[in-house]
Amino acid sequence: MASGKHFKYVILGGGVAAGYAAREFAKQGVQPGELAIISKEALGMAPCAEIFVDKVGFTPANCYTSEYQMRCTDVVELVAPYERPALSKGYLFPQRFHVCVGSGGERLLPEWYSEKGIELILSTEIVKADLSTKTLTSAAGANFTYEILLIATGSSVIKLTDFGTQGADSNNILYLREIDDADKLVAAIQAKKGGKAVVVGGGYIGLELSAVLKMNDLDVTMVFPEPWCMPRLFTADIAAFYEAYYTNKGVKILKGTLAVGFDANADGDVTAVKLKDGTVLEADIVVVGVGGRPLTTLFKGQVSEEKGGIKTDSFFETSVPGVYAIGDVATFPLKMYNELRRVEHVDHARKSAEQAVKAIKGKESGESVPEYDYLPYFYSRSFDLSWQFYGDNFGETILFGDSDPASSKPKFGSYWIKDGKVLGAFLEGGSPDENKAIAKVAKTQPLVANIEELKEEGLQFASKI
Ligand code: FDA
Ligand code: NAD
Repeated sequence: MASGKHFKYVILGGGVAAGYAAREFAKQGVQPGELAIISKEALGMAPCAEIFVDKVGFTPANCYTSEYQMRCTDVVELVAPYERPALSKGYLFPQRFHVCVGSGGERLLPEWYSEKGIELILSTEIVKADLSTKTLTSAAGANFTYEILLIATGSSVIKLTDFGTQGADSNNILYLREIDDADKLVAAIQAKKGGKAVVVGGGYIGLELSAVLKMNDLDVTMVFPEPWCMPRLFTADIAAFYEAYYTNKGVKILKGTLAVGFDANADGDVTAVKLKDGTVLEADIVVVGVGGRPLTTLFKGQVSEEKGGIKTDSFFETSVPGVYAIGDVATFPLKMYNELRRVEHVDHARKSAEQAVKAIKGKESGESVPEYDYLPYFYSRSFDLSWQFYGDNFGETILFGDSDPASSKPKFGSYWIKDGKVLGAFLEGGSPDENKAIAKVAKTQPLVANIEELKEEGLQFASKI
């Protein structure tokens, strides 16, 4: 076997879950040289300006949840694990910034890792994982062995070239997952100032990027196949508010149709998007957000899988002892709903990482760790809007509050009710206390005696729980 490096613990992946796992290892106690993070994200310049309050309304409070709010004033030369959500928000504005992982506490700049004796092995893509010999092999042929492995490889974007869409490999058809992608997007926004942008997809990326492009003064058209945006979570009522709000901001929305091809000029730059319904849209930039795919291929046939992810127990250990899976790749027992789920959101990436490390350290010390008991929590911010959702979106729904898109300060929400209990709660424009109140509703699942009364009470109902 080729020579290589050995570590007691290896985290594969250098994203959100990796950063939070490293932080928890440091908290629980890790000796210098015991822990390494291996990440394919490249060396680069990631400018972290002071979080700014600028004309477009991004303030510290709406760039990050208050729980995880932080500042970062340093220029980071290594792309140490960072808070990925910033890539579709503050990072795309002129005074762009991203923040190193460690929100709400110690900032995990590259120096933090060296001070703790944690090795950051960056620009290193692992192309082979042999769980039987506990060996990872990089594209350059380096081997890394471990005693405990944490798989934190996250997701990759689904590309239109995957479906063979005609012309989908033209220049300026862009995706967003990593810092490299965000840098390309920033360069395209600057190069095509005042130009036309088409956003393909009506999910998280579609909504967040349409707003960012519009705020960067591009002429934006959003295209998606479903009858309303964000159908994975939004009800038709919720979506109607966001669609009208976006329309008022000047974003054009085309629903129920697909991008089936692209035209390009002699340089290979995209010039138009052809839709299934025959419409042709001029385009200088196309941003595609048609979903993600968990990066599990390295482990195919070596670990149990479920629901597209790597199956774990409540401590994020996989079917292979000593191998853990955290963040987007894990399909874990969601205790409160008594079912296995995979969650592609940052709150779970952070919390699953902390849980896995606590469990690893607990096994070593003989201390027991409670089972993971996760309350699903998703959020998004765009323009000057900000919503949070907690729980599950099943059952009958009611809408409450002021959902008039023309209101100066719209504040509205929804409850999902199943078997007489509130299972999920959504709130646009809530204060930190109000968001806490809806989280409590989703966690405690109170009984609803009368749906009409619940509708009348709206947010009051949550405040009383
Ligand atoms: P993550 O993707 O963060 O990290 C995976 C890491 O593994 C990457 O560094 C990757 O390069 C590396 N890697 C993969 N394969 C490798 C290999 N073979 N060798 C070496 N390294 C490898 N969620 C939310 O709740 N609110 C939000 O506002 C947002 N916003 C948002 C914006 C954008 C642009 C994206 C792409 C995603 C979000 N999300 C989000 C989702 C959230 O960021 C996501 O769920 C977490 O980043 C998942 O954390 P992980 O650590 O699992 O993967
Ligand atoms: P998504 O699943 O949220 O949305 C995908 C959307 O793509 C669908 O709603 C649909 O409108 C559209 N679509 C699907 N197939 C299509 C096709 N062939 N042509 C045109 N449109 C098509 O995925 P996303 O928005 O790409 O986000 C990717 C990942 O990033 C997800 O894991 C998401 O959770 C994460 N993310 C999360 C946030 C957040 O939580 N605020 C923000 C950005 C990204």
